[in-house]
Amino acid sequence: MDGNGRWAIQRNKYRTSGHKAGVESVRKTIHEASKQSIDFLTLFAFSSENWSRPKKEVTMLMDLFTRALKKEVPELHQNGVKLNFIGDMSRFSSNMIKRMENVASLTKDNTKMVLTIAINYGGRWDIVQATNKMFQAIESGKIEKEQVNEKSFEQFLSMFNLPHPDLMIRTGGEKRVSNFLLWQLAYTELYFTKTLWPDFNEESLQEAIQEYIHRERRFGKTSKQIEDSVKC
Ligand code: IPE
Ligand code: MG
Repeated sequence: MDGNGRWAIQRNKYRTSGHKAGVESVRKTIHEASKQSIDFLTLFAFSSENWSRPKKEVTMLMDLFTRALKKEVPELHQNGVKLNFIGDMSRFSSNMIKRMENVASLTKDNTKMVLTIAINYGGRWDIVQATNKMFQAIESGKIEKEQVNEKSFEQFLSMFNLPHPDLMIRTGGEKRVSNFLLWQLAYTELYFTKTLWPDFNEESLQEAIQEYIHRERRFGKTSKQIEDSVKC
């Protein structure tokens, strides 16, 4: 979700008002995704690198996140959304961690959609923490060194129980991944739009999905192989 700051500057406002407006886009996107029967939605709310922003902005973002969580959870829960948080939690206050744990536990049995919020998340961090967990599993005899492969490694990553994303949408015009789900994006379709996040709405999501359904996903195979497998 990129472009909040620019959206605000264009309107002669403080960057923080862009973040506030961005919350509305989050609501619209979750609602539309659910309407489109999307089973898994992951939002990159705050990256490990975002800590290096001015302290005031970081504090405001954390505050906004806490308030949005409090305000939106009852409705999300009612709509069958299961919330999941990924990222390095060690930098958050115990209060905030407790709040996220409570939300995850409250919504754990919901089945309409899984909404994952990546907060203080970084793809490199994820791979390193997974590697450390794997070492521990080897040391304690839970897995054998010889059993290490892509599949067994994956169970230590933050999104271990969720499928890899089909589509990644980045708003704000930048064409990069910025340390998002590095491992899981290997075969994800990438969609970049100049739309700034606060302007992203139901139609913007529909446009992205429309483009996605016209992409041919080959996973290394040839076009002909894909066509033949569709025919069968
Ligand atoms: C993304 O918008 C929101 C967060 C990082 C939380 P930005 O704040 O990066 O907006 P720009 O890129 O400065 O416009
Ligand atoms: Mg940005």
